[in-house]
Amino acid sequence: METRRVEFGELADGRRVPAVELANGNGMSVCVIALGAAIQSLKVPDRNGRVADVVLGYDDARQYLQRPQYFGVTVGRYANRIAGGRFVLDGWPYRLERNDGPNHLHGGASGFDRALWKIESVSDGPQAKVVLRHFSPDGEGGYPGALDVTATYSLDEANTLTVEYRATTTRPTIVNLTNHSYFNLTGDAGNTDVMDHRLTLFADAFTPVDEMLIPTGERRSVAGTPFDFREPRAVGERIRDGSDEQLRIGRGYDHNFIVNGPPGVLRPAARLEDPHSGRVLELLATAPGLQLYSGNFLDGTTVGKSGRIYRQGDGLCLEPQAFPDSPNRPEFPSCRLDPGEEYVSTIVYRFSITAG
Ligand code: BGC
Repeated sequence: METRRVEFGELADGRRVPAVELANGNGMSVCVIALGAAIQSLKVPDRNGRVADVVLGYDDARQYLQRPQYFGVTVGRYANRIAGGRFVLDGWPYRLERNDGPNHLHGGASGFDRALWKIESVSDGPQAKVVLRHFSPDGEGGYPGALDVTATYSLDEANTLTVEYRATTTRPTIVNLTNHSYFNLTGDAGNTDVMDHRLTLFADAFTPVDEMLIPTGERRSVAGTPFDFREPRAVGERIRDGSDEQLRIGRGYDHNFIVNGPPGVLRPAARLEDPHSGRVLELLATAPGLQLYSGNFLDGTTVGKSGRIYRQGDGLCLEPQAFPDSPNRPEFPSCRLDPGEEYVSTIVYRFSITAG
């Protein structure tokens, strides 16, 4: 295992963005940048041993702030949407920024994706590991409680990348952290899209949304719908089914799936396979839900790594998280964190290859 501290670049205000590369002996490596504690690149071998980058992102640090598409970043304090940018906790009303129409999305302007995290430690051993820390003061962005957060990335020799989030608070609050990587297992994003990728979701139900992508409260069975990925299906097979109201609203997939099994326990959430390269990603998580987002808002105006234009469907986000708008939905699993407790959420990305 190998770890290397590098410099990723500089922001417009002159702040430098340090980064850490974790690498194993099989050719797999990940570059984690302090800006947004983000996965900037993730290099994985295909069935012929050819190593390529399987996530979308930027080459230049400044672009992460100029055109936030949340490429690979840590999203917080609350990933996804909160209706009307408001919620009530213990009888107290809180107001958050409305940065997505009338709603709050991904933590707003003080979101963790825009923060320069501190690289707290880097270590080798059976795992190459980096710990990043971020402190968000009481009231920042409208959220109650000072939040002390760590994001730990570790890579092992079995081609498994584990991300663990931990957080504590000084006042009762809400927390929902996730990683927002857009995967394209061809390793050729910007030339080849992900519509051929075969996706399995370990979810019998999902949460339908209204026109503003806020859950209606319903838990709907995936059976007989384009949301049924219980058996492997090509992502693009039913994505253009215009008879499906939910696909029309999302312009494709932009929905929270209810991961089977008890939240808090690490369990399979998704499996993604690229039949061409043979790369396979198995995703396990502790979070109650998984947002499937098919990059619907990549509209060709974003120039990503290697100068390639990203368009709809060029990457697929699989975001383990609390259900959207949970703070306003007592019937959804709770995203509450109290002083004295610790928020812990784990995501495991396990890479392998399948024969052709
Ligand atoms: C959301 C999309 C949003 C995107 C922004 C996803 O997590 O589900 O609705 O447009 O993030 O990058």
